[in-house]
Amino acid sequence: MRQPVVMGNWKLNGSKAMVTDLLTALNAELEGVTGVDVAVAPPALYVDLAERTLTDAGSAIILGAQNTDVNNSGAFTGDMSPEMLKDFGATHIIIGHSERRQYHNESDEFIAQKFAFLKENGLTPVFCIGESEAQNEAGETEAVCARQIDAVINNSGVEALNGAIIAYEPIWAIGTGKAATADDAQRIHASIRAHIAAKSEEVAKNVVIQYGGSVKPENAEAYFAQPDIDGALVGGAALDAKSFAAIAKAAAKAKA
Ligand code: PGA
Repeated sequence: MRQPVVMGNWKLNGSKAMVTDLLTALNAELEGVTGVDVAVAPPALYVDLAERTLTDAGSAIILGAQNTDVNNSGAFTGDMSPEMLKDFGATHIIIGHSERRQYHNESDEFIAQKFAFLKENGLTPVFCIGESEAQNEAGETEAVCARQIDAVINNSGVEALNGAIIAYEPIWAIGTGKAATADDAQRIHASIRAHIAAKSEEVAKNVVIQYGGSVKPENAEAYFAQPDIDGALVGGAALDAKSFAAIAKAAAKAKA
């Protein structure tokens, strides 16, 4: 059985007050909720405060981050390493997000390097894949996802996906309110799992595949009712404690 994972990607949003308020409220909302792993990825500057807030609250919320470098130290101005993330208790690290692919020109190969380096450092990659609107309209979705996953498999082997999280996020659905239908998302998730199964049935059976892109409390249940959708990567709705907790609770209920 795959335990669902619901993760909040806060992107470039936050302040000291927001971090403490949101995490305190979220922790209260999630009291007694089991059967789902809940994680948050604040901006890097706030990971320290998030760790202290969660520790003080005795919270089970998992701490994550939105990026990593492929070195642990050295002359790499502006970067942030797995060792540093670990130092602050962050374990679930988002890589390959379409905003980094697009605005920072991150290639499949560079993301595969990040994946390998996170694994080498004992961290959990939350590995984002997904197609653009044009690719979707051209019927290339499955091929794009397969290519993005193959970059990791070719670099690290299929077994490296053990314990990692894949987040399927159609780019046209991110922050647009234009979510994929649950049926369409399920079809793509099944194709991703089948693609991995061709290399290893065991890895495919166990790997968590989240859906991301305009997930809200109103549509969450429909996604989690699908057999191959194991949680969500949530942007906008993760900035509100009640909305994000409602999504986490929907995952726990659907997969119980
Ligand atoms: P969204 O973002 O929920 O605001 O669409 C999802 C993401 O980019 O991870």
